[in-house]
Amino acid sequence: MLLGGFIVNKDISEILISEEQITDMVYSLAKQINSDYNGRNLLLIGFLKGACVFLSDLMRKIDLPCAIEFVQTASYGDGAKSKGSVDIVKDISRPLQEYDVLLVEDIIDSGITLSNVYALLQLRDPKSLKICTFLNKPARREKEVEISYIGFEIPNEFVVGYGMDYNEKYRNLPYIGTLKREIYS
Ligand code: IMP
Ligand code: MG
Repeated sequence: MLLGGFIVNKDISEILISEEQITDMVYSLAKQINSDYNGRNLLLIGFLKGACVFLSDLMRKIDLPCAIEFVQTASYGDGAKSKGSVDIVKDISRPLQEYDVLLVEDIIDSGITLSNVYALLQLRDPKSLKICTFLNKPARREKEVEISYIGFEIPNEFVVGYGMDYNEKYRNLPYIGTLKREIYS
């Protein structure tokens, strides 16, 4: 499919957020962060793998000294077990006490991942600990999390692109879209 001169992946049913909207929002989030963290010791911690695209765009619009790290989590539970606990499978080795830590996520859905990691990192006594997410799906929240920076609130739909996947595919799409129904079934 051709839309405005560029090719839309054949599995995508609708583009929810275009490349241009993404660029504008990243810039606006970075502007707030630049002002809020001026004079602080900023450490961005991205969640692998989904947040890698957002983090790499965001950090290039931040004009303060900043360090980056990544964590990767695995959430346990499938149809048989209840989801609710999260393990950090890739952790950060540096101590956090001297940093103003900003957690960077692609999307917050149930809130379970974020609330667990937030609690674990808080135990390491950072100077401050805040959350920035590109997308927020409040309709699905099970665990409350305080989010300081939100790109877009989206309805309760499964989205892909801009780092987000379905079965490890579509992370490389430069826009955020929904998948055609036949892809799930
Ligand atoms: P939570 O613990 O339910 O908040 O899940 C957050 C994680 O689930 C995100 O970091 C994503 O990796 C994944 N996720 C949640 N919703 C979506 C979606 O619509 N598309 C792709 N991944 C999603
Ligand atoms: Mg993720």
